[in-house]
Amino acid sequence: MNKIIAAALLLCATGAFAEPDMGKYNKSCAVCHATGAANAPKTGDAAAWEPRLAKGMDTLVASVASGLNAMPPKGMCFDCSDEDVKALIEFMAKPAE
Ligand code: HEC
Repeated sequence: MNKIIAAALLLCATGAFAEPDMGKYNKSCAVCHATGAANAPKTGDAAAWEPRLAKGMDTLVASVASGLNAMPPKGMCFDCSDEDVKALIEFMAKPAE
């Protein structure tokens, strides 16, 4: 958990800090982002996330809300708030150990 907090603090500049909800991650984002299915930027692959983060957190949250190419609207997490989505993006974009 400390590692997640440290990574989230590192990524703080990209958006408001919030704990990722791992239950929501596992039943939605993980389905594609854990494996990189359909060219989804893979969780923990900081290089894949870098150009995404460069668009700005608000743009990324908007991409998730409306869907982007192979990603369905809301990333299949219909009970995710914008804060959840932000925290999940920060979690996925942090480098894997
Ligand atoms: C059905 C598969 C799928 C699921 C589920 C999914 N994604 Fe994605 N996601 C993708 C794919 C594929 C892309 C790459 C889209 C592209 O750039 O063509 C992507 C791209 C993204 C991007 C980058 C958007 C941008 O503007 O570059 C973000 C942020 C993201 N996903 C967040 C999430 C979050 C948060 C969740 C869970 C709430 C989630 N995704 C669930 C498939 C998925």
